[in-house]
Amino acid sequence: MGARIICVVIGYLFGLFQTGYFYGKAHGIDIRQHGSGNAGTTNALRTLGKKAGAITLLGDAFKCVVAVLVTWFLFHNSQADIMPLLNLYTGAGVVLGHNYPFYLKFKGGKGIAATGGLIVAFNLPMAGIGLVTFALGYGITKYVSVGSLLVVTGFLIELVVFGQMGWFGMSGAHRIELYIVGAFLTLLAVWRHRENIKRLIHGTENKTYLSKKN
Ligand code: G3P
Repeated sequence: MGARIICVVIGYLFGLFQTGYFYGKAHGIDIRQHGSGNAGTTNALRTLGKKAGAITLLGDAFKCVVAVLVTWFLFHNSQADIMPLLNLYTGAGVVLGHNYPFYLKFKGGKGIAATGGLIVAFNLPMAGIGLVTFALGYGITKYVSVGSLLVVTGFLIELVVFGQMGWFGMSGAHRIELYIVGAFLTLLAVWRHRENIKRLIHGTENKTYLSKKN
C-alpha cells in the first residue's frame, strides 16, 4: 500500500505544474478567466493561440511522463511485479494535481493532456490507438471534448481487453485493481467534462479549428 500512496503523492506534486496557467500568467492573463475557464490545452489554444496550445499540451503531457519515470526509478526493482499498476497510480496522482491544484483553489484543468502523457509512458501501442481515436473524434466533429472523451473511454476498454490478454503480466487481483484505477481516471475525465457534455447535448459546444489565424 505504501508504494501506491507514494506514487499518487509524487504524481500529485508533478501534476501541480499548470503549464497553461503559467504560460497565461507570463502573458499577463489568467486563462481560467477566459474562454471555457479551463486551464488546459484547448483553452490555451483558444485564448492565446497555437503556440500556447502546443506548449501547454507538451508541458502537461511531459510532466506525467517524468512523474512515471521517477516512480519507475524508485520501484522497478522492489515492486517489479506490479509496476504497471504503480504507473497508473502515478498517472492518477498527476491528473488529480492537474485538475485540483491546491494553490489555485483546486481549479485546474480536465486532465486530458496529462492522461495522454500517462498513456505514452504506460504503453506505446495504446498511445498510438489513443492518438488515432482522438484524431477521428476531433477530426470528424471539430469538438476537442469529443476526441478527449473517446480517448479516455478507449483507454479503459483497452486496459481491460489487453489486460485480459495478459499484456500487463499481473495476477488476477492486481489486474482488477488496474481496471479500477483506469475506471477512476475515465470517470474523473467524464466528470470534468460534464459542462462540455451538456453543451454537446444542446448543440452549443465550442468547435475548435486549427486553421484559424491563431
Ligand atoms: O481537454 C479539454 C477539452 O476536452 C475541452 O476543453 O476548454 O473546450 O472545455 P474546453
